[in-house]
Amino acid sequence: MDKIQASKRIDKLRQTINDYRYHYHVLNESIMSEEAADSLKHELAQLEALYPDLIQPDSPTQRVAGSILPGFESVEHRTRMLSLNDVFSLEEMQTWVERISKLAPDQELTFFTDIKMDGLACELIYQDGILQRGLTRGDGFVGEDVTANIRTIESIPLSLRSAPGYTQFLNGLTEVRGEIVMYKLDFEKLNQQRATTGLALFANPRNTAAGTIRQLNPHLVGERALHFRAYDLLREDSSDVPTNDFAYRSLANLGFGVNKMAQVFLNINDVFSFAREWENKRLDLQFNTDGLVIKINDRQIFDLLGVIGKAPRGAIAFKYAAEQATTKIKDIIVSIGRTGSATPVAVLDPVIIAGSKVQMATLHNEGEIKRKDIRINDSVIVHKAGDIIPEVVQSLPQLRLGLEKEFVMPTNCPECGTRLVKQKIDEAIWRCPNKNCPSRTWKQIQHFASKEALDIEGLGEKNVIALLDAQLINDPADLYSLSIDQLKNLDRFADISASKLVEAINQKRNPSLARFVYGLGIRNVGVQTAIDLANSFNTLEALIQANADDLARVDGVGQVVAEAIVEYFAEPINIQLLQKFKDAGVWPKIVTKTNGKLSGVNFVISGTLNNISRDEAADAIRMLGGTFQSSVGKDTNYLVIGEKPGSSKIAKAKLLKTPIIDETNFLHILTN
Ligand code: IVH
Repeated sequence: MDKIQASKRIDKLRQTINDYRYHYHVLNESIMSEEAADSLKHELAQLEALYPDLIQPDSPTQRVAGSILPGFESVEHRTRMLSLNDVFSLEEMQTWVERISKLAPDQELTFFTDIKMDGLACELIYQDGILQRGLTRGDGFVGEDVTANIRTIESIPLSLRSAPGYTQFLNGLTEVRGEIVMYKLDFEKLNQQRATTGLALFANPRNTAAGTIRQLNPHLVGERALHFRAYDLLREDSSDVPTNDFAYRSLANLGFGVNKMAQVFLNINDVFSFAREWENKRLDLQFNTDGLVIKINDRQIFDLLGVIGKAPRGAIAFKYAAEQATTKIKDIIVSIGRTGSATPVAVLDPVIIAGSKVQMATLHNEGEIKRKDIRINDSVIVHKAGDIIPEVVQSLPQLRLGLEKEFVMPTNCPECGTRLVKQKIDEAIWRCPNKNCPSRTWKQIQHFASKEALDIEGLGEKNVIALLDAQLINDPADLYSLSIDQLKNLDRFADISASKLVEAINQKRNPSLARFVYGLGIRNVGVQTAIDLANSFNTLEALIQANADDLARVDGVGQVVAEAIVEYFAEPINIQLLQKFKDAGVWPKIVTKTNGKLSGVNFVISGTLNNISRDEAADAIRMLGGTFQSSVGKDTNYLVIGEKPGSSKIAKAKLLKTPIIDETNFLHILTN
């Protein structure tokens, strides 16, 4: 190929790959497979190697990480990067509006509202459409030049996209600001990898993203899954961007990912409704958020309102109820879990966090207490988010009065007196080795009956304790021999509640394999792993027979989990329990794979279906020869969505062009 032809080809390749990037990162869709795009990149790199003078700075090949940096240069921001003042309630939002209404009288105020991403602020500078620089926020006036690092982030365009109506931004200086985030899933994966290789775990996605950008090896940045989402567009002539609404539309057209839920509201009460709507929905987002950003939509009014201290008057952050609070540790006790793990738990002066009262918080293990230097009587910061167990984040030693006592791990189980031991598999954790320890039995039975396991209604914590105290049960299999008469003799039960509970238990004699396996409470086997195991092995017998290698081959099962499963089925006491279930006629139902009409068809279900439970749907699919998968992959044929589906599954399906169907269509496939 001569140089002229090569030049044309290089231009075409560059455009196609950039288009692929834009569709993938901005529109959430895929115009070709990753492999195909990689192969085009390869061709481009080869041509550029032949004609190095044809390499453009925005060529996708120029994303490759360079050598280790000597340090970061400090660069002044052309326009200061501001912070936001926080508000926590509707009243505070209203007060803000009243205040600015006085400063901008006779102005119609509208509010541009977006989710506040929990990441690292970043400024990108484009000259004539080409990325020149990436800066961190720094102190707001001066940031650090992290260009070499951020160039490896694929969602950052190396050149602005040319789109009709927005080409003015390709001339002169254009600054784009946004947040670099790490997705929650990628963060968990990264920590899992680190755990298996014995590396220290990262605290949260934000710190990981910030730490990654601020280290000097661009290769490492390239390896970590980071994403950039834009929220601001600046020009020398501010009239180029009249509203924030227009800024977002422009950013999307120029090739940036922006939050799709961002919108304009005409009054602050509607902003508040939006905040309420997203309070729970935000937990399903790919990244962490702790609130909203609310800006006056009109940028002229915004500028006119000016800055006070570090924050503009024209914008605020609405923060959801605090997920952290400070309190005092009254005592540290040791709780014995279902698998015998001895977990130190802080007994707290009760404190309200994120709307609920917290009295206990986990301290994880002895080493963690030492590392964080947490003592009895210490003032501490406690964290709680969503359904997760509250935890003590750190102690506040500066508040000590001298009454604090160091915690000493007991040598014996506080429940049964057995000497605690450490196992090789997890050396940080002490365990009670007594399989009949009352605390283990109680938690095991409760776990077996819990919602995600057998889901036995009416068998909560207190009823399990009452049954154990009356010595009516000793293990989960004993539940199935309970009679109405036995229950009626206990204070907690009357005629109706006794027969209801017996009926609820008996309804669950043939659960799905996934629920039963999860219900056994095997160490490290969570809901998802149980589903993956059930999909792979189909019968409990096959699972019991499987060796560590067979198990580790299952997608989502690592060596540690595989070993825990083998260890579980090697224990005589567990085999006895299984035999007891069998004798009582309790066994996971067998769903035979037939060469039915759905043979070779793979389904994923997300959200709640109205007419059929997930288990029933999974069984129906398997019965017809199909496969029920836990996550969307290249081989998924349908994503079925019910109510409140997970946004990441939908995004993945869109990316892979997997057909998305609703419950009606799904039932149609099953029944026709
Ligand atoms: S707009 C004047 N929009 O929050 C600053 N900021 O506390 C206007 N942030 O430093 C920023 N998500 O890094 C805006 N959707 C969003 C945001 C967002 C996260 C960060 C940003 C800023 C900080 C302000």
